Amino acid sequence: MTMLSQQAVTTLGPQNAVPALKTERLVLRAPCAEDAAAMTRLLADRRIAINTARIPYPYAIADAEQFIASVNRLDGEATFVVTLDAMMIGVCGVEPREGGPEIGYWAGVSHWGQGYATEAVRALIDHAFTDLQHEMLQAGTRVSNPASRRVLEKCGFQWTGVRLSRVRALNSAAPTDRYRLDRRLWLSLKSWSCAGRVA
Ligand SMILES: CC(C)(COP(=O)(O)OP(=O)(O)OC[C@H]1O[C@@H](n2cnc3c(N)ncnc32)[C@H](O)[C@@H]1OP(=O)(O)O)[C@@H](O)C(=O)NCCC(=O)NCCS
Repeated sequence: MTMLSQQAVTTLGPQNAVPALKTERLVLRAPCAEDAAAMTRLLADRRIAINTARIPYPYAIADAEQFIASVNRLDGEATFVVTLDAMMIGVCGVEPREGGPEIGYWAGVSHWGQGYATEAVRALIDHAFTDLQHEMLQAGTRVSNPASRRVLEKCGFQWTGVRLSRVRALNSAAPTDRYRLDRRLWLSLKSWSCAGRVA
């Protein structure tokens, strides 16, 4: 429950060189200007904006253009468009925040329930702990959002508490579950699959 929306365009340096990340079914790549129309179409469904911190609703193409122009400017930030067969189905990313780097993600409603968010977030986490060298990641999700909680749990995040967070599309604050994943736990989970029971 972060980013992935309209951060203030203040100190814009050159955009980070964000690599393409490939998973079994998806390719995550840096957003480009041509993504604005698809992003706007996907964000026409209010259910996405009201579950993120800063995505406005209604969502206009100018919002997408501003978002695309403003991301990947900070040290330790990486924002990706998630694609399936070269078609955009969502966005995910990590960005530096007070208290540590925070991940955020969303998927177009017609793509929900097929494991895409989990697959994309796992690739994002691997990138954050390897290439970006983050030591921990945090995340937040509205308490009324079980699908997002489940994504975080499937990725190894641990619940740390609840706080009120502003939701731009609601123009108010909402209770948010907070989560954290540190490098040691991530390493342990990554090694489990090859070091588990052998017979
Ligand atoms: C949260 C979101 C990204 C999930 O996307 P997705 O591609 O459907 O996620 P996945 O398919 O990888 O995983 C969803 C999990 O939640 C579970 N789930 C879905 N709805 C659920 C519900 N009402 N109650 C309990 N679990 C639920 C699914 O069964 C699945 O778990 P499983 O694999 O163990 O069966 C998507 O719903 C979304 O974009 N929501 C709006 C934006 C948002 O919430 N972003 C996250 C906060 S920043």
